[in-house]
Amino acid sequence: MSKIVVFRPIGIISSKHTGTGKTPIQPAYAEGCLGRAEVFPEFTEGLQDLDGFSHIYLIYHFHWAGPARLLVKPFLQDIERGVFATRSPLRPNTIGLSIVKLLRREGNVLHFDGVDILNGTPLLDIKPYLARFDRIETTRNGWMDEVDEETAQRRGRRGYKGK
Ligand SMILES: C[S@@+](CC[C@H](N)C(=O)[O-])C[C@H]1O[C@@H](n2cnc3c(N)ncnc32)[C@H](O)[C@@H]1O
Repeated sequence: MSKIVVFRPIGIISSKHTGTGKTPIQPAYAEGCLGRAEVFPEFTEGLQDLDGFSHIYLIYHFHWAGPARLLVKPFLQDIERGVFATRSPLRPNTIGLSIVKLLRREGNVLHFDGVDILNGTPLLDIKPYLARFDRIETTRNGWMDEVDEETAQRRGRRGYKGK
C-alpha cells in the first residue's frame, strides 16, 4: 500500500503565462520570458547563498493539469509516448521541473528568465543547478532524436518569438 505524500508549497511563481496553449514548453524556448517566485517569509532564510548560482531548478505543482494519462502525445510529436518518457504535465504526480536563469534576489523574491510556468503556480522546492553534478556530456535522447530542431523550435515556442 503506497503512502500518501503531502507537500506544502514554499511560495508562488508569477509569470505572464495565463494559458497552457500559449506557454513555451521548456525554458530552452522561453528566453526573455521573465518571472519571479515569491517565497513565503518563513522560508526566506533558506534562500541565503542562492545568489551565487546562475541557474536554479524550480520544482512545482502543475496546478492546472488535467487528469493523468499513462500514454500522451508530447508537445513536439504526434505519436503517443509513455508519460514518463515525456515532460507532459498530465502525470500521476503533477510535478514540474524547470531550470531557469536566476537574475537576482530581492529578499524573499527571486527574479528569473526562461519561464515555461503558468502564473500562480505553487512552488514546492528550489535547488541550485550545478554543472559539476548535473551536466552530462553524452546522452541518448530517445524519441526526441526523431524531432528536428526547426520543428522543436516552432512547436516548443508556441508562438513566442523569443528575445
Ligand atoms: C511541457 S511542460 C514542461 C514543464 C517543465 N519544464 C518540466 O519539464 O517539467 C510545460 C507546459 O506545462 C504547462 N504548465 C505550466 N505550468 C502549469 C501549471 N501550473 N499547471 C498546468 N500546466 C502548466 C504549460 O502549458 C507549459 O507549456
